[in-house]
Amino acid sequence: MQPIKNQCGRSDNDVVSSTAKRYRWMHALTRWIGRSGADRDTFVASQYWESRHQAHAGSLRATGHVQLSDADNAADFEIRVARIADALVRFAPADGKRTLLDAGCGCGVMSERYVRQGFAVTGVDFSSSAIGQARMRSPDVDFHVSSLVSVELNRRFDAIVVSEVLLHVVDESDWRRTLETLDRHLSPSGVLIIVDSLIEPAADLAGHCRHRPVHAYRSAMRELGLVVAEHTQFDLPREGVTKDMLVVRRVR
Ligand SMILES: C[S@@+](CC[C@H](N)C(=O)[O-])C[C@H]1O[C@@H](n2cnc3c(N)ncnc32)[C@H](O)[C@@H]1O
Repeated sequence: MQPIKNQCGRSDNDVVSSTAKRYRWMHALTRWIGRSGADRDTFVASQYWESRHQAHAGSLRATGHVQLSDADNAADFEIRVARIADALVRFAPADGKRTLLDAGCGCGVMSERYVRQGFAVTGVDFSSSAIGQARMRSPDVDFHVSSLVSVELNRRFDAIVVSEVLLHVVDESDWRRTLETLDRHLSPSGVLIIVDSLIEPAADLAGHCRHRPVHAYRSAMRELGLVVAEHTQFDLPREGVTKDMLVVRRVR
């Protein structure tokens, strides 16, 4: 298969390995200065996110990079949200009452943008603090406090966006169950958009992160009858990393 080129003209493999190097370097530095944030043996994801959302309420540090300023997080956020908006324009159904599930919506900053893009939005996050803030921010969105590992909304969506969430589902069986949740909630002609940091080989570069390679996603999707229709990459200059975006559809 031809390596894909990102915006900067680097190949898929070049970018993945440079991202891995940057993450390893950042992680080593973070550990050295004693702010690694979580120890894998005692890590409970829901507690980690609840206290992070409480500590950084009203700041993009809650869902962005915890060591960047709000201005820098906002700059990277706009790049990310523009990429997702573009994929939604290209892959989501164009008419009718379009529905979107914001999976791992945090305090609803992105949910609000999807409303502006014309979607009827449902948001799910397991942090009650984040959902409390989200409800204040976007009264038009139907928010739920629940874990993506097991949530059952009993409906399907035209689009699902899971942005910067799956790398935080560190347990392998929880990750698979989360993918099953996304599959169960995706309509037959729907589009699933995943934004993540994919690394070959898989790596645990911080207690609250599990970076997986793209082939892990491709094969998990295949087992669910889904297919990665597009894999693109883009740089977040303030954070200094390259992100991956997967557009996933049902096999027809
Ligand atoms: C890095 S933030 C991303 C927020 C938002 N999607 C964005 O792109 O800005 C990760 C979010 O996922 C949520 N999260 C992580 N694991 C989750 C799970 N298993 N179920 C529900 N929410 C989860 C966290 O509470 C947090 O709000």
